[in-house]
Amino acid sequence: MILAIDTSCDETSVAVTDKRRIITSVVYSQMDMHATWGGVVPSLAKKAHLEKIDKVIEKALKNVRVAIHNLKAIAVTQGPGLAIALEVGIAKAKELAQAHSLPLIAVNHMEGHIYSSFAQNRNGRPQREFAFPMLALLVSGGHTQLVMVKDHITYEIVGETVDDACGEALDKAARMLGFGYPGGPILEKLAREAGNTDVYHFPRPMASSKDLNFSFSGLKTAFLHKTRQLGQEEVEKHLRELASSFQEAAFASVIGKLKKALELYRPRSVCLGGGVVVNGRLRTLVKGVVGKTAPVYYPPYKYLNFDNAAMIGIAAHYHAARGNFVKDIHALERVPRLSLA
Ligand code: KG4
Ligand code: ZN
Repeated sequence: MILAIDTSCDETSVAVTDKRRIITSVVYSQMDMHATWGGVVPSLAKKAHLEKIDKVIEKALKNVRVAIHNLKAIAVTQGPGLAIALEVGIAKAKELAQAHSLPLIAVNHMEGHIYSSFAQNRNGRPQREFAFPMLALLVSGGHTQLVMVKDHITYEIVGETVDDACGEALDKAARMLGFGYPGGPILEKLAREAGNTDVYHFPRPMASSKDLNFSFSGLKTAFLHKTRQLGQEEVEKHLRELASSFQEAAFASVIGKLKKALELYRPRSVCLGGGVVVNGRLRTLVKGVVGKTAPVYYPPYKYLNFDNAAMIGIAAHYHAARGNFVKDIHALERVPRLSLA
């Protein structure tokens, strides 16, 4: 069993995993705190991680009724994420590894999101087979990436955002409409009420570029102009149509690049991860474009779409199987911009 820690952003999370099985997962969310500021405030995130980390670890160990020295390894997110937030988890992981003479495994947060679709409960369900090469679409508040997974722990980033992440754009659009953080779920609801119509035809970012990269800042600007042009009263009258049109434009660019990637790489399976992939409209669009060409996997439980340590523990298992342990525990450092490949 592996004890895994993730403090990359605004969730203090600790899990105990056994291969792909989640034995326990404890997530202390700071969402409400950051919501009052309209987004994640790094210094507050760090403070909350420091305050909660011991309690969260204690709770996870209590849930599994296993003494820490009977575990096989400690795993921790090295990056990407907020530097001062990552630091809290890494310091704690080093401390535990040293105090209990356990090996330490450093995990990339994004590979956690990839492996989240393959998580299992205590009874080993769901049973999903890995079929490589696998195309991973990762869409969250911090990232928008297309990754070819050639084998376990072997990645190639084939597309990523050149500016904002998709979730970040959704959050900003919701804010322009007067809503709080996180904006993704609010836009999804409004769009559903509008029947996912596209009234305003906002620009499809990077639609004509040949590469597999994404861009959302132009769309965001177009949206801002539209809301200003309409004025407060009209915006309030057309909230649903505005939300829906923005969501359609943002997802159209994600889907367009996914389609290109499928044609180019012909993967044997597709997996999705990150907070935005809980979105029902996005799932429908993904299903439409992948069709019967490959199985599509999503995280089997809702919380696994969001940041959690269980996915880090699962990715760590595949690192351990390859002997990828941290050689010099003292020297392990956070890497806020850590890349998958
Ligand atoms: O993966 P995540 O919890 O954190 C990061 O690593 O960024 O993702 C958070 C993002 C936010 O941008 C939030 O607005 C978005 O996921 N999100 C959604 C939905 N629920 C959360 N986006 C679209 N539809 C949703 N239902
Ligand atoms: Zn994440």
